[in-house]
Amino acid sequence: MPTSPGKDYIPKEMKIKIAASILSADFSCLNEEIRKVESAGADMLHIDVMDGHFVPNITIGPMVVEDIRKSTALPLDVHLMIEKPQDFIDDFVKAGSNLITVHIETVTERKAREIKERLQKKGVRLGISLNPLTALHTIDKTLAFVDFVLVMSVNPGFGGQEFIGSVVPKIKELRSFFKGDIAVDGGINETTGKQVVAAGASILAAGSYIFKSKDYADSIRRLKCQA
Ligand code: DX5
Ligand code: ZN
Repeated sequence: MPTSPGKDYIPKEMKIKIAASILSADFSCLNEEIRKVESAGADMLHIDVMDGHFVPNITIGPMVVEDIRKSTALPLDVHLMIEKPQDFIDDFVKAGSNLITVHIETVTERKAREIKERLQKKGVRLGISLNPLTALHTIDKTLAFVDFVLVMSVNPGFGGQEFIGSVVPKIKELRSFFKGDIAVDGGINETTGKQVVAAGASILAAGSYIFKSKDYADSIRRLKCQA
């Protein structure tokens, strides 16, 4: 333990970033929810976009993202759970997204590369995501050009589901050869957050753990202290 932190000393827990997933927020007062989670210390807002085809649920589109952009200075981390994401990328960029994630189940390597080129011109980061049952090797070729990986730890579609523990070895394996950010999404709480951080995750996307709690700041602090 250093007695007096040197200039390079950064508390380990500060390296874990929290993406607050608004899917579990109260949409009747979304603006207020966003302000609360921002002042509670969230590092970004995770916005789940669902089309009723790739996943059995429908959520929000670019128009709502545009309004959210006006409510917050936090980076907008837009998780596209939609078929043909390439058809909607420009709309989500225009709406003010800072990070956009597409699923490997919805794009070829070539399409993902085209999306990356379009996003790079606009200064938007690209994430590639994979479902719990999708093998890690399916994203192999995209790792050379994506900015981060989003590992799904529930089957996408709904908030408040139970964490699927079998994804932990996948995170560990990915961390052994991938140096960028690894985000984990679904069923994240204090216990599962600890497991995925130990396996190498650097971003925790959490919805119900934060928004269903009484004290957002306390929940976020607990998640950040998992290292
Ligand atoms: C699930 C979404 C998640 C979801 C996580 O399809 O991608 O971002 O909001 O919610 P919790 O943290 O409640 O599992
Ligand atoms: Zn998500």
